[in-house]
Amino acid sequence: MIKNEIEFILNDELININNVDTNVSVLNYLRINKRLTGTKEGCASGDCGACTAIIAELKNNKLEYKAVNTCIMFLYSLHGKQLITVEHLSNTKLHPVQQSMVDNHGSQCGFCTPGFVMSMFGMYKDKVKPSNQNIDEYLAGNLCRCTGYNSIKKAAKKMYSYGRKDKFSKNENKIIKLLKKIKHNDILISKNNNKFYIPLNLKNLIKYIQNNKHYKFVTGGTDIALEVTKKNNTINSLIYLGNNKDLNYIKIKRNYINIGSATPINKIIPILKKYYPSFAEMFYRYGSTQIRNVASIGGNLGSASPIGDSLPALLALNAKLILQSKNQRLLGIKYFFKAYRKTALKNNEFIKEIRIPILKNHIFKCYKISKRIDDDISSLFVAYLIKLRNNIIIDVNIAYGGMDSIPNFAFKTQKYLIGKELNLKNIEKSKQIIEKDFNPLTDVRASSYYRKLVSKNLMDRLFLEINNNKVRI
Ligand SMILES: Cc1cc2nc3c(=O)[nH]c(=O)nc-3n(C[C@H](O)[C@H](O)[C@H](O)COP(=O)(O)OP(=O)(O)OC[C@H]3O[C@@H](n4cnc5c(N)ncnc54)[C@H](O)[C@@H]3O)c2cc1C
Ligand code: FES
Ligand code: FES
Repeated sequence: MIKNEIEFILNDELININNVDTNVSVLNYLRINKRLTGTKEGCASGDCGACTAIIAELKNNKLEYKAVNTCIMFLYSLHGKQLITVEHLSNTKLHPVQQSMVDNHGSQCGFCTPGFVMSMFGMYKDKVKPSNQNIDEYLAGNLCRCTGYNSIKKAAKKMYSYGRKDKFSKNENKIIKLLKKIKHNDILISKNNNKFYIPLNLKNLIKYIQNNKHYKFVTGGTDIALEVTKKNNTINSLIYLGNNKDLNYIKIKRNYINIGSATPINKIIPILKKYYPSFAEMFYRYGSTQIRNVASIGGNLGSASPIGDSLPALLALNAKLILQSKNQRLLGIKYFFKAYRKTALKNNEFIKEIRIPILKNHIFKCYKISKRIDDDISSLFVAYLIKLRNNIIIDVNIAYGGMDSIPNFAFKTQKYLIGKELNLKNIEKSKQIIEKDFNPLTDVRASSYYRKLVSKNLMDRLFLEINNNKVRI
């Protein structure tokens, strides 16, 4: 049975809704339809964090809280979830997070404050130790122009001293019961000739795409929502994959990490930490906590940006993709990127799974170069996969982002390095060859000269790190 409305909990009220346009963001719905104006709009592109709210989802009979940017989240993707806004944090008494912000002078003009409070609330609900590193991680997606970050960080450090249990802990069972009442069916919303389809499972999704045309997939929405918020376009037909359990998983099988395409980046980090720590470390610099909580690996591949961060890493690792239409096909990632933002995906086809080989005898390193450490897109990205035998390079992949119109291998450099000893002389020579592999463009993120220079310098970094920084160059 197909339903024509979504159900979600707004703070503690169960809402059924189908009378709002399918392109409306959660933020606009809150501010315009519900007059909940505590959640602010700064940038409308996921960068400033002023619009941060919390989503609570039922996972293993518990609530899992995550901070999100409501400005780039489509309203109808809230189906089956609880949305908590800043208005709901306190009733007669301020929430510990708010009291700490007041007492530690964490606010001046106050515009950014609701966003910071909600990010800190997300951290509080995750019961995260308030170390400098954790605070930076949780607050990197929030910008403040006046207070300065010291007092805000101090507020985050002290928030637990105002109590570790809040009204949300006490109400948790009530919310769990309400969430369990929400029926999970296929949902199709039609409004003003626009459609938003939420398939219950993979089978229904496959059936729907056989019978429909001219739709776009949305998973986290952190890329595609900007079509609406920044370019002012209307997307007539959307298929939401973010809720789909059949696309949301991580499994280890026959020496591969198999990741469902809708799995958010933050869920992938723990498994990568085990097998490819450098990949996991890079993911901590991927957008912000709000972005990583919803942005999927499938969406990163689907957007096929030449500066998408997971793409060169997956290329270097020889990942495989399961592409799904009526039937499935397995494609090596090196065949996936065809031209600038063009992929091998056919009509009615989507990415179902990403398979990353577990290569225990190789060295894997990747480096992201961007103007800011946090919440910034790469100017340049490189991933290296190397196998050495007696210090001779017997296997090597070098994949760059930001050097070409697609994420691509440094073919000539790879060819030169095969069979060579890993020493300073050969690294120096390989740096000259990289020049022949790429002719990068100059844009707002970096000049062609800078990209060429840094791509060479990163070879030195690789060499030094493999040698534990014990050699001088
Ligand atoms: C503030 C901000 C910071 C960012 N920082 C980074 C960063 O550091 N590094 C980085 O690489 N990117 C970054 N991005 C870009 C974006 O977040 C990522 O590309 C993200 O992984 C996209 O995933 P998503 O699930 O949100 O994709 P969506 O926006 O849902 O979709 C993106 C595209 O992929 C298609 N698509 C989605 N799922 C599938 C599927 N299963 N099969 C086929 N097509 C599909 C969609 O139709 C759309 O064309 C940032 C974006 C913002 C707004
Ligand atoms: S308004 Fe800036 S991140 Fe949403
Ligand atoms: S207090 Fe003014 S922007 Fe942060």
